[in-house]
Amino acid sequence: MEYSVLLILHVFLAIVIIGGILVAFLIVLPYARKTNDPDFAFTFIKAFDRGSHAILTIQLLIGFRLGMLYLPISEWFKFETHLSTTMVLKLLFWVLLFASLIIGKKMGLSSPEKGSLKTAAQYFGLLSIFALALMVLGLNFRLVLF
Ligand code: HEM
Repeated sequence: MEYSVLLILHVFLAIVIIGGILVAFLIVLPYARKTNDPDFAFTFIKAFDRGSHAILTIQLLIGFRLGMLYLPISEWFKFETHLSTTMVLKLLFWVLLFASLIIGKKMGLSSPEKGSLKTAAQYFGLLSIFALALMVLGLNFRLVLF
């Protein structure tokens, strides 16, 4: 029962995180550029930014517990199976995504004051790579792609 509830929550939060980043990168930013309405994009990004850190932290806690159900923590850094490799890569990409959100915000890459639609698009392009990597790695637990 615990596993099912955690997996459902994990996939739901994954949809919110990956969805928010990809909608910004593939729909909102191109539309703001096309209509020359940067505020449209910056308002969306500001709203996404508000909840992103909290959701990512909850996602880490759920993912951590899911990982423990697959493999004892003592085995994670032994790289003896695809499970341990995938687990460590997941943690790495989570840190990259979380850190990018903090650094990007500090640098104002997606703010109207310091940034531009171009810097915001580059920034969300990078976030999209990390988010999609987390999705593929998540599926790798069962699909054993590598
Ligand atoms: C933004 C962050 C994350 C996203 C978007 C994400 C996304 C996903 C997705 C899409 C799956 C596949 C679910 C399925 O097979 O139905 C998954 C599974 C999994 N994730 Fe994550 N994940 C994230 C963070 C983490 C973190 C930080 C950890 C570990 C510390 C983690 C551990 C796991 C585990 C163990 C599974 C396998 C669950 C299973 O299929 O049984 N995830 N994740």
